[in-house]
Amino acid sequence: MKDNEQVKDAYTAYGEIWSDIYDEFAEAMNMPVENARAVSFLAPFAKDGTALELGVGNGHIALPLSETGALVHGLDNSESMLSALRAKSGGDSVRTHLGDMAEFDLGTKYDLVYCINNTFSLLVTVDQQISCFRSVVNSLKEHGRFVVHLHYPYTAEFSDVGLGRQTTTVRHIDERRLMVRFSKHDRNNQLFISQDLWIAPKATRTMPIKLRYVYPSELDLLAKFSGLELVERYGDWERRPFDNGCWQHRSVFRKIA
Ligand SMILES: C[S@@+](CC[C@H](N)C(=O)[O-])C[C@H]1O[C@@H](n2cnc3c(N)ncnc32)[C@H](O)[C@@H]1O
Repeated sequence: MKDNEQVKDAYTAYGEIWSDIYDEFAEAMNMPVENARAVSFLAPFAKDGTALELGVGNGHIALPLSETGALVHGLDNSESMLSALRAKSGGDSVRTHLGDMAEFDLGTKYDLVYCINNTFSLLVTVDQQISCFRSVVNSLKEHGRFVVHLHYPYTAEFSDVGLGRQTTTVRHIDERRLMVRFSKHDRNNQLFISQDLWIAPKATRTMPIKLRYVYPSELDLLAKFSGLELVERYGDWERRPFDNGCWQHRSVFRKIA
């Protein structure tokens, strides 16, 4: 997508805006290390069975997961992301589906469905989030697991004083590139509304992002409401117990019997 092109609904166009620089962005954010740990965590749930990634992007997790023997499907609402995935080496090992993770039925039952790197928060209403959970329930085999990886909501930095409820955060700096996030907080709708500014030799881009944050307690309620129950929760991919010092969690759900 060209820099000056308008996007119809910018907040739902994450992949369309970001796909051509997503690999460089992920490398700058040091995501490959964490993604490799994610694959090790997820692989036993899929074993030689079937797995579905919600918001698969260009395959940072799905591709290595498929190398562990699982048949991996990936759902994304961005054709640009999916075609970037298919173009990668081994890309044809992941079955791609263009669609909305808020509501889907891919006609397959999976051993594992997973949604990681805060992607679930891109569903920006409680209705979308519940509908996603219900689609997951319908897509899981009886013994299947749903793994959600989310950031714990950090709202303390949004002061109510001065200009109020806004932050500017340097997300990355190196000798060639920088990324700054400008954010506002819509407290009543549990939304972080941001623009990421990425400046690098290859491209300069602004990236609008809306995230609906949920506390783990709300996530568990949404799950229960949809027919899932929490089995395990960890603070990192190496199974650190989730405690008050953790700012991320990996939550594993199963169907309520
Ligand atoms: C943060 S990226 C994560 C990509 C991949 N999971 C990873 O960790 O590398 C979020 C992905 O979710 C996709 N996405 C956003 N909203 C979506 C929706 N409603 N349905 C399906 N995919 C969505 C975007 O296109 C993007 O590829």
